[in-house]
Amino acid sequence: MDFGEVKEGSVRVRTAEGAFYNPHMEFSRDISSLAVAALDGMLPDGERLRICDGMSATGVRGIRYALENKNVEAVTFVDMDKAACELVEANAKSNGLQDFAAFSGPQFRVVEDDINHHLYRGGEKFNFVELDPFGSPVPFIRSALLNLRASKHGFLSATATDTAVLCGAHQKACLINYQAKPLHTFFCHEAAVRILAGHIVRVAAPLHIGIRPLMLLSKRHYVKGIFEAKKSASAALDSMNNLGYVSFCPKCLTVKTMNKPFLSPVCAECGAGADGSTAPIWGGPMWLGELHDSGVIDRMRKANSERQYKNRVEIANMLMLMKGEIGMPAFYYDVHSVADHFKRMPKPFDRIVSELQDKGFAVARTHFNELALKTDAPASTVRDAVNA
Ligand SMILES: C[S@@+](CC[C@H](N)C(=O)[O-])C[C@H]1O[C@@H](n2cnc3c(N)ncnc32)[C@H](O)[C@@H]1O
Ligand SMILES: [Zn+2]
Repeated sequence: MDFGEVKEGSVRVRTAEGAFYNPHMEFSRDISSLAVAALDGMLPDGERLRICDGMSATGVRGIRYALENKNVEAVTFVDMDKAACELVEANAKSNGLQDFAAFSGPQFRVVEDDINHHLYRGGEKFNFVELDPFGSPVPFIRSALLNLRASKHGFLSATATDTAVLCGAHQKACLINYQAKPLHTFFCHEAAVRILAGHIVRVAAPLHIGIRPLMLLSKRHYVKGIFEAKKSASAALDSMNNLGYVSFCPKCLTVKTMNKPFLSPVCAECGAGADGSTAPIWGGPMWLGELHDSGVIDRMRKANSERQYKNRVEIANMLMLMKGEIGMPAFYYDVHSVADHFKRMPKPFDRIVSELQDKGFAVARTHFNELALKTDAPASTVRDAVNA
């Protein structure tokens, strides 16, 4: 059954029974298309993107990448569902994409196949792979990286909708899927993107691929990362050296990151663990390096200001917050959680920020949570600044 036409970004696509289309993911597609634009500065001279839209459904994502960005040479749409492939074919044509036999304009091809199979055996070398599955991208990461390795340098865009797993609501599932221990705390959304990134780094390292996140985002029910993948043993080692663990004291709320898997049985700040209260807990391994690349965020902001996306104001705000996250410590304090923990009321947000800044600490807001702040202040100082 045909569900009619939708307009998104600069494309119009038909949606139909059997091809998944989620209007709430338009924001995610906007962000990803902006990220594609921002890769301009990172491609060797004259090189353009050969994109695999790995789970294309209606094709809206890949069609937008091709039509909204000059740096896209071709898009191969892969979906294992026959009805989806037929729809992609029609949508790509109606939006002016040309099939591989044509000579000009962004080219496309539709492949009905399992994405792992196509990435391993499809005979195509991509320098950008999009993974947008139902749930976790984990089963597809290795084949995406093996494909990118053939191009020596490329980009991986991966979305995960199993956020409950990554945020620690299902700890065992996170251990087996991502081989990392999650933390079900107020900063779990940042831990979630860092666990996803850390997993990709560990799959890539034995393939001698270095991974660097260019943008890591958490929103609604999904997390998303755009990663640079570089074939090089030393880049793989650099990436591995950015992995580590986080500890969290459930009594005084101290958060610490560490590269070695050492957890003191007693909190050095408040003595929790030795005084009958619960000892610090830990999570990881996870990515502890920067969340975003500054140049990529700048170029995304510029592209957003030049486009007429209906989400452009919200996107501008999110990219501004992301820019502020660069250079700040990992993780954040949610002011309501802090106040609740100490059974107090929080002061107004701006006052908390200025009190910390007046004491000489760095403070930034974060896209992970609009009522949270990143700071280099110790937990006890944050507590005093938050509690009214
Ligand atoms: C979440 S939807 C993709 C949405 C789409 N990328 C968008 O932005 O609108 C997931 C799609 O992946 C396809 N799919 C699931 N497993 C697959 C696999 N192993 N190989 C290829 N396609 C797969 C499904 O048929 C479905 O169309
Ligand atoms: Zn403590």
